[in-house]
Amino acid sequence: MTSVHPYGYTDTLDAEHYATALRADIHRGLTSTPKSTAPTWFYDARGSELFEEITQLPEYPLWRAELGLLRSHAQDVAARTGARAMVELGSGSSTKSKLIIEALGPTGLNYVPVDVSADALHQASAQLVRDYPGIRLHALRADFTTPLVLPSLPEDGPRLIAFLGSTLGNFRRPARGPFLRGLRDIMRPQDFLLLGADLVKSEHEMTAAYDDAQGVTAEFDKNLLHVLNRELDADFDPDAFDHVAVWNSAESLIEMRLRSRVEQLVKVRGLDLAVPFGRGEEWITERSAKFTVDGLRGELADAGLSTDQLWADPDAGFTLTLATAG
Ligand code: SAH
Ligand code: AVI
Repeated sequence: MTSVHPYGYTDTLDAEHYATALRADIHRGLTSTPKSTAPTWFYDARGSELFEEITQLPEYPLWRAELGLLRSHAQDVAARTGARAMVELGSGSSTKSKLIIEALGPTGLNYVPVDVSADALHQASAQLVRDYPGIRLHALRADFTTPLVLPSLPEDGPRLIAFLGSTLGNFRRPARGPFLRGLRDIMRPQDFLLLGADLVKSEHEMTAAYDDAQGVTAEFDKNLLHVLNRELDADFDPDAFDHVAVWNSAESLIEMRLRSRVEQLVKVRGLDLAVPFGRGEEWITERSAKFTVDGLRGELADAGLSTDQLWADPDAGFTLTLATAG
């Protein structure tokens, strides 16, 4: 298929697929107790923009910690993997990816950013082909919670699958095993996984990272309501909800929640649903798991992935792991 863009582009989430997946998750999530929906739906153009703002917040050091680790170790990743193809899940703005792309050598490198956000993919891809005219870029709009069908890549040479930003944490413990095994299954013996993961720290640091003083994360959380109003013809009033961040120590994760300020009945016409909220009722809009080094190694090993290198930023409590399907 010819692309109207100066890069390859495959959209596996056309309007119908996106709408079907959104409807199914929101229907399930708003009719369960407690109400709980997937974080996938935050990322329309505004949501992706707000995430970029989050990365610069003083309370959210993890993004910059990973950037620092990549500055120090992208060359090590290149030397160890010798990869000529990189597939990146949840690539967003691909800002940090540039460090890996430059270390691997952009000319002739196959780069496949995978994201649910068409806006983020197009913006990042247009910039990357401008910066690196020799790069072979094929953007894939897909939902990584479903099995990935990658665009064709050269058979020879090791591939690097990058999953940065601690986005693995958006999967709960029971779902992480099958997800990681799914990645292992698409890896050949010569391939590598590069995984960024945020570590457990003090409860105050963790909750502040998801409830910043400027209210950017609150706006990000409430962006979900705008998405649902637009996509599902709902009538959520963002002012009728408060954003809260809660540490769930039993599951070692931060929960972002929208707490209803009043008793209310919200119409979601696209689902033919009226959703009752009690005063103070909390709806979990995102879970973000935090890891320990040993726990992470164990989860990788359980999925058949063996840790080859692990780099840590002890001050910021963040790790980058390079693993093989060994
Ligand atoms: N890796 C980037 C972006 C992290 S934000 C960084 O570290 O800066 C998380 C990214 O994952 C967003 O760009 C969002 O659009 C994407 N995303 C969230 N859920 C997704 C899903 N189910 N499938 C594919 N992409 C998803
Ligand atoms: C993309 N994901 C790993 C981020 C996180 O930290 O869970 C998204 C985010 N949500 C609130 N702040 C940032």
